[in-house]
Amino acid sequence: MSTPIIDLTELFGLSGRGDAPGRLLGKLETANHTGSVKDRPVERMLRDPRVAGAHTLVEATGGNTGISLAVAGSMLGKRVIVTMSRKMSPGKVRQMEEAGAEVILCPLVGLDSPANFINVARQLGEAEGHWYVDQFNNPANVEAHYETTGPELLEQVRDLDAFVAGAGTGGTLTGAGRALKERNPGIDVVLADPAGSTLGPHLRGEETEPAPYLVEGIGGDFLPPLLDFGVLDTAYQVDDAEAAAHLRTLAAAAIDVGSSSGTTVGAALAYLRDHPGATVCALLADSGDRYAETWRNQAWLTDHGL
Ligand SMILES: Cc1ncc(COP(=O)(O)O)c(C=O)c1O
Repeated sequence: MSTPIIDLTELFGLSGRGDAPGRLLGKLETANHTGSVKDRPVERMLRDPRVAGAHTLVEATGGNTGISLAVAGSMLGKRVIVTMSRKMSPGKVRQMEEAGAEVILCPLVGLDSPANFINVARQLGEAEGHWYVDQFNNPANVEAHYETTGPELLEQVRDLDAFVAGAGTGGTLTGAGRALKERNPGIDVVLADPAGSTLGPHLRGEETEPAPYLVEGIGGDFLPPLLDFGVLDTAYQVDDAEAAAHLRTLAAAAIDVGSSSGTTVGAALAYLRDHPGATVCALLADSGDRYAETWRNQAWLTDHGL
């Protein structure tokens, strides 16, 4: 099944802007079975023959991979243990637990600390009968997007000028980006990066100190091994306040998506300002249902100045 493309051009007021207003599209990954783009890599990673020999699947996640793995694991009859940073929304924990997974919340510390969620998962994965799925290093993550997300975009948007997504593991941008460039090297692959992440600055050759931000699932303070910076053409950084404003616009049109979609829409609008007339597709990676206590909660938004 291909996820739908929706046209956001009018919603974001682009159609009235001059002779070459451009087109803003969104790829609605909420239509995947568990409501996020992560069903794609999870389905592919679970084809691994090591799954059969494991009674327990372990994964480090920003939440969406964990939700997808929890559901898949319960269908396969496997125990699922997921590690996640405390920063992430409680709704994600709830969805994982409802599907039968065990969730270990870890402090928001860098990879140099053994308490970091990725290090905790790697350690747990070493136990007898456990398999660490390892989306951050598993090549099947990239392959899933190379074989599905990229070709779908080429099929669905014939005059695509740019694809915009965030990077958590880098699987989406690396896999889909390679597929797009292979077919048409003129398509720009654009990193949507939260302000505070070090990935966008790295692409520009700047090494910066990470700063905290609230958007979930993308950006970070380390370079994900699967992210091929060679496939990226440019990056735009979007702060939490701008992401929240775009989410309000989307919600008003009953487009129920998660925090990172505010970032990808912001980056796509910035790209359109630099490339008037372009056709741009932003990844809308996950559903708003997992953000009930946070990005979907006015009191939380107000508390955080959003
Ligand atoms: C919430 C969320 N998770 C994951 C991703 C993509 O992650 P990855 O780089 O791991 O493929 C995105 C991309 O925009 C996202 O918004």
